[in-house]
Amino acid sequence: MAGKREKFGGRLAVILAMAGSAIGLGNIWRFPYMVGEHGGAAFVFIYILATIFISLPVFLAEVMIGRRSHTNARDAFARLSRHHPFWRAAGYLTILIPTLIASYYSVIGGWSVEYFVQSCGLTFVKTAPEQVSGLFAPFVSSTWTPVLMHLVFLAACVGVVAGGVKSGIEKFSKVSLPVLFVLIIFILGYSVALPGAGAGVRYLLHPDWSELTPRTFAYAMGQSFFSLSLGMGAIITYGSYVSKRENILVTSSGTAVSDLLFAILAGFAIMPAVFAAGIEPGAGPGLIFQTVPYVFSKMGADLPVLSAAVSILFFLAIIVAAMTSLISLVEVGVSFLMERKGLSRGRACLVVFAICGSLGTLCSLSFGPLADATVAGMSIFDLLDWVCSNILLLTMALLSVLFVGWILPRRVVRDEFTNGGTVNGRVFPVLYFLIKWVAPIAVVIIFCTNFIL
Ligand code: PFF
Repeated sequence: MAGKREKFGGRLAVILAMAGSAIGLGNIWRFPYMVGEHGGAAFVFIYILATIFISLPVFLAEVMIGRRSHTNARDAFARLSRHHPFWRAAGYLTILIPTLIASYYSVIGGWSVEYFVQSCGLTFVKTAPEQVSGLFAPFVSSTWTPVLMHLVFLAACVGVVAGGVKSGIEKFSKVSLPVLFVLIIFILGYSVALPGAGAGVRYLLHPDWSELTPRTFAYAMGQSFFSLSLGMGAIITYGSYVSKRENILVTSSGTAVSDLLFAILAGFAIMPAVFAAGIEPGAGPGLIFQTVPYVFSKMGADLPVLSAAVSILFFLAIIVAAMTSLISLVEVGVSFLMERKGLSRGRACLVVFAICGSLGTLCSLSFGPLADATVAGMSIFDLLDWVCSNILLLTMALLSVLFVGWILPRRVVRDEFTNGGTVNGRVFPVLYFLIKWVAPIAVVIIFCTNFIL
């Protein structure tokens, strides 16, 4: 079986696939808002430090677990720990987490499909600005359309995964990532050229050092973790398709840089337009599905054709960004089902579609018919998001660094990092220290901050 495993075609393919996983809604709706709320350029500075000193070591730890074990995320821990019962059990988390996240993330993917369709039908340009934000609530709380769109979006992602690692995931990332960068740069050009856009640029750039509290550090770390898809099994899985010859420090840093660059571009694409329209930005789905359409509607009064075109391209960019992220999560479950349960890729894809499709349908309905089904005051959607973001992702990331720092012998980690001594290992001692001590402590701090502060 091991000999037949697929691999990414080379360095660029690895970076594009991993960057595809990393670049997603987290970059578009969360990063710009967090920057503005938490000290502008000062936050970006902390975010970069957090990425270099904490997220990158965690990222490398996950890549190493995947590449060394050369198997799916569930079996990776078991294989490397020689089937220790604790790590065998921990491996199941790597299947549970992406399944849960994929279910609710694809609901949001479905909303972007609907908004793309509406953009093509010129809805935002034709509707009065005061009414456009109001379109969101009736849409998400309706029964059929959001569920249908969620299933369409999920099916598209599963369809790419069904094509395989090389001809599905790799090919899709190679086309979509460059397209995504071009789209966001185009939107950025439109956005900063709007009258009044300067306030948005200032919102992102003003370095307000007084905003930097312990909480800000925890937010920056949390955002950086989410943005690099850590603790979701995705990087372990993609790591298992990385060739033994690849320099993983280069591919991991390349991914982190692309992710950061895209987040910054997204900030400059969105915030100037939001300020130009004279509104305050907010976080979460509201930013993309209420605030941004308002901007298009407002600008549409003077420049209807350009506004319509940009709104179509904007929602296309959201769809592509969300797809490349979701694909990486779908692949986690698919590789598990193929290797552990002996299913063909096609059947494994169908099983993942059935599970995430059903769970996602419940999440979608939790905005409407199932709104009253709550646990601790949270709807099904909110509950899944809360449990995953605040507990499961961090637990998984912590387990990954503890595993590499404390369970795998140092010699094995060094061997993996230096490709058997063929790659320069000068930074290895620093990296090992970060993985063994700094990253676990940082994750525990984020965990505590989420609950205590
Ligand atoms: N890195 C992704 C993002 O920033 O949106 C996180 C992610 C979320 C990846 C959901 C995959 C996914 F399905």
